[in-house]
Amino acid sequence: MRHDGCPRIGGDLAARVFARDPSHDWCSLLSPADSLAPEWLVVPDDVNDLAAAVWPASARRDVDGVVQLAGVSATALAQTHGTPLLVIDEDEVRARARSFRVAFDRAAAEHGTTAQVYYAGKALLTTVIARWVVDEGLRVDVCTGGELAVALAAGVAPASLGFHGNNKSVAELERAVEVGVGTIIVDSAIEVERLAAITARTGATQRVLVRVISGVHAETHDFLATAHEDQKFGFPLLEAEQAVARIREIPGLEFAGLHCHIGSQIFGVAGFRESASRVLELHASLLEGGPVPQLNLGGGFGIAYTRLDDPTPIETLAGEIVAAVAEGCAARGITVPALSFEPGRAIVGTAGVTLYEVGTTKDVALDSGATRRYVSVDGGMSDNARPALYGAQFSARLASRAGTGEPQLSRVVGKHCESGDIVVDHEFLPADVAPGDLLAVPATGAYCAPLASNYNHVPRPPIVAVRDGRSTVIVRGETIDDVLSRDAGIEASENLR
Ligand code: LLP
Repeated sequence: MRHDGCPRIGGDLAARVFARDPSHDWCSLLSPADSLAPEWLVVPDDVNDLAAAVWPASARRDVDGVVQLAGVSATALAQTHGTPLLVIDEDEVRARARSFRVAFDRAAAEHGTTAQVYYAGKALLTTVIARWVVDEGLRVDVCTGGELAVALAAGVAPASLGFHGNNKSVAELERAVEVGVGTIIVDSAIEVERLAAITARTGATQRVLVRVISGVHAETHDFLATAHEDQKFGFPLLEAEQAVARIREIPGLEFAGLHCHIGSQIFGVAGFRESASRVLELHASLLEGGPVPQLNLGGGFGIAYTRLDDPTPIETLAGEIVAAVAEGCAARGITVPALSFEPGRAIVGTAGVTLYEVGTTKDVALDSGATRRYVSVDGGMSDNARPALYGAQFSARLASRAGTGEPQLSRVVGKHCESGDIVVDHEFLPADVAPGDLLAVPATGAYCAPLASNYNHVPRPPIVAVRDGRSTVIVRGETIDDVLSRDAGIEASENLR
């Protein structure tokens, strides 16, 4: 097995493949065509193919080789809306939302309980998307006053909202209680006292869950793991009992149960199973002091970013996770609580494709004889910070036509003034990619637009929904005037002219 000497990211991916399949044939992952290619990147048989796991189900090439999403061609999208452009396939979002709801409903029913699925809005929240997921039977999880405002503007029933956050302000909590947010997931003893004061003042009763850290180390990037001990979220298991005792004393608070989210981009059920088992221990002990009707196991279900990722179907995951909870309850002689889950990425990630226009290309040849092509596009780390933030891997395809050249090891980079401004670190693109071509980067539906910035005063791109051959703007793109509008010196300097 070769983990040594491979780039950090390749190494992480290699470790993940090994965790799933220790007998993996590593030779099949080597890319002999170019020594700068990480060992996990294979030279594609067809440099124009659209790998099913990474693209929305509707993605295909038309007779001219142009990529189509939900029946709308990439070239038409770029002509109508410009580039960069985040395209969201509505049917893909709806289908994924539905499949989570159905899978968890079924699994829960098999074990005599119920399950609610909250869409974690942090992945991508707009009023239109909130309406789609609610339409498909999901609730919505928000984690700031801003996300709460979007959900309310979308008309989501406040009672079906969950409100997260390790540092909710008093004003945010007041607003949540005032509008009747269904569940507030409390994260600290200070927050419990803030809610005690708010409910005492207003006479409201607020349902709360207590977020605990299960101590499970999710096998993911450090910044995406949230249930190990040394981080900011939630109560350590040992301190949670005291917090629950305090909540039970407060007349305005209704203790509903525990919450645990172990991290993000997780494959397999082992982490969920272990975490559930630890949290159930506390859950069972809390039952001695009163009812504990619910258990929320958070989100974190991984998606495919490259062809190496192989997410387990949600039907299997849901079945295994709920079965593990039921087993844990049976072992402790307690009733299976009502369950909830909070997927974000797995609902919208694969539904999003970002279109860019190629501006320049340049080939770099090293002394070793290895070469890499840099393909610069008209966006970058301001519309997709994930590679820079997490070393995240994406893939890319030529979208405005099918390429005719040989696979060429390429790095897709943005237009920002940083060498770390990378969109796709390693990809084989057709050698004939040229200025004016459109590139498509799939799996950009989650945590790309929400993390977007105006770095280098680049306006943030629009978001358009596609369905049945039509595209609709759901978030308009920023103009340069938008970007300049907060600069208080502009009017003054114009007056000087
Ligand atoms: N519930 C809680 C309490 C969370 O903190 C999160 C994600 C989720 C649910 C949804 O997780 P998902 O199913 O989407 O993995 N910006 C990072 C991800 C940060 C996730 C934060 N919390 C990224 O781009 O990968």
